[in-house]
Amino acid sequence: MARVTVPSIRARKGIEKIAMVTAYDYPGAKLASEAGIDIILVGDSAANAVHGFDNTLSISLEMMTHHVAAVARAEPHSLVVADMPWMSFHVSPEETVRNAATLIRAGAEAVKIEGGAERIPHIQRLLAAEIPVMGHLGLTPQSIHAEGGYRIQGRRLDTARQIIQDAQALDETGVFALVLEGIPEVVTSVVTERISAPTIGIGAGISADGQVLVFHDLLGLGFGRYPKFVRQYADLRTIATDALRRYCNDVRAGRFPSQKETYSVDASLEDALSGDTPSNASASSF
Ligand code: KIV
Repeated sequence: MARVTVPSIRARKGIEKIAMVTAYDYPGAKLASEAGIDIILVGDSAANAVHGFDNTLSISLEMMTHHVAAVARAEPHSLVVADMPWMSFHVSPEETVRNAATLIRAGAEAVKIEGGAERIPHIQRLLAAEIPVMGHLGLTPQSIHAEGGYRIQGRRLDTARQIIQDAQALDETGVFALVLEGIPEVVTSVVTERISAPTIGIGAGISADGQVLVFHDLLGLGFGRYPKFVRQYADLRTIATDALRRYCNDVRAGRFPSQKETYSVDASLEDALSGDTPSNASASSF
């Protein structure tokens, strides 16, 4: 499969929809790549999906760097985009570039940052350092405390217009793609029509240029309630629990391991060993 690049994603606008999924480790990235996924987002949703935190604010740059490196080691054909965690870009543009460079050196090919026009100076510095940037507007999970929870955005005329304005500002600044999360379909449709970068929706309706879902939600590996916009394509939690339960039962019943799963030696060695007494065993060649 040909490698997906930032320019090839830009060129897909209006031609072919883009499939993006999160992944946080080597097997996840291998699976996504083998399935033909275009973009792997090493999302800060790793905080919830993998580390069991309540929100994404708890994941650090160092933790994200480990996830990015594990994904990159899978050498996926998919483009690898790293989420910049909270407080890694709520600092000076210089420090933002240094933090982004850590993720790029770990194997990311682009970074994603949440927020609107207020992020422009940071995005400009990242682009000047040759780091492609994906934007993220609408419901931005890092704003959980400022918003008082996870709330669908853009339901009023003023907030819908704000999202559209921010999208245009980010597009003019040069983001190569824009995630739209938790907004009404009509807002997605207007943004998608007005900007040159592809939009990638999550809970944002069908008119986006692509879609993204969290790996664990899509595969049914989550432990909470799934949001309305999630389509669960598999129930791996049930499959995995069943497999682990059968393993438990087999161990306890002495059915695992079988002869086929066991290493053996020549019968003569077996005889010699079983004839050993504790005193001559210590003198054996082992
Ligand atoms: O971290 C994440 O999973 C994300 C997606 C929801 C877009 O930012």
